[in-house]
Amino acid sequence: MISPKVITGHTGWTDDLDFVFAHKDKVCNSMKKQKPHDPNAPYDGYDEREDTEINARSVRLEKIEPVTDNIKSAYHASKDIYDDVLTQGNVLSKMYMSFFWQGTDDREVAQRILKYIPDDFRGQILDVPVGTAVFTEKKWRSLKNAAIMCLDYSDDMLEKAKARLGDCNHITFVQGDVGQLPLADNSCDIVLSMNGFHAFPDKNKAFRETFRVLKPGGQFIACFYIKGKNKRTDWLVHRILSKKGWFTPPFPTEDQLLKILDRLYLQTDYNADGSIAYFRCIKGE
Ligand SMILES: C[S@@+](CC[C@H](N)C(=O)[O-])C[C@H]1O[C@@H](n2cnc3c(N)ncnc32)[C@H](O)[C@@H]1O
Repeated sequence: MISPKVITGHTGWTDDLDFVFAHKDKVCNSMKKQKPHDPNAPYDGYDEREDTEINARSVRLEKIEPVTDNIKSAYHASKDIYDDVLTQGNVLSKMYMSFFWQGTDDREVAQRILKYIPDDFRGQILDVPVGTAVFTEKKWRSLKNAAIMCLDYSDDMLEKAKARLGDCNHITFVQGDVGQLPLADNSCDIVLSMNGFHAFPDKNKAFRETFRVLKPGGQFIACFYIKGKNKRTDWLVHRILSKKGWFTPPFPTEDQLLKILDRLYLQTDYNADGSIAYFRCIKGE
């Protein structure tokens, strides 16, 4: 899949093509001072008072944090409300799910994909991203003969998962990046990725890595948001969730996702519930 990055001048770069072409119907007058896109931006691109020779020679530029750290701060901020929102634990989250997600129930989708894993399963499972383990706790606890690695980029989310499952000897917890999995090729029988791909910044790497670590015949089981199913959901994802760092564009449409899965995997059992795709794929021998 091609994933172009577009240089956007003062704002740096982006891979969100909807954002890049949002105003393609408007003409830009380069002779006039432009209205800043974000009036609350932390600097004024036209204020050059600090661009002095002495500053250039003596002041170090601030370290640029990797893009993925938006993710750490987003999940740090939401770690205590995450479970309630996803499990519709109060009236507000019920209303949120019904208005923005057409009532898709994450708990049901989670149950449907966990059913792909037999209750007496033995073998190596990778759960990436584990998040707080809100949907997987019961299943992972019961699979005593499996070796389960729970991986997440956010220490905060991983701490919550450890608080739930830290007493289980068959489960390990790893802070890491799905784009660089600390596992050998062909080492997992199952890779589970629940609600992860819409958060992962580099989806190509995530598809490649989850495929690489799977054994031939192994199963890739996942669910996540796909674009183009519902305008209200797409608006929410584009305008709110991506800006906050809980989601990271670009997002595949259903067609694009099916093409990726078809290219990588031998067999796919694919379904969608509203804007959430969920599926099980088998890696070829
Ligand atoms: C929406 S939560 C899903 C968590 C859990 N699977 C669930 O269904 O509740 C998304 C998770 O992806 C994690 N994440 C984002 N980017 C990641 C990356 N590059 N590698 C691993 N985890 C990542 C976040 O830290 C967050 O915990």
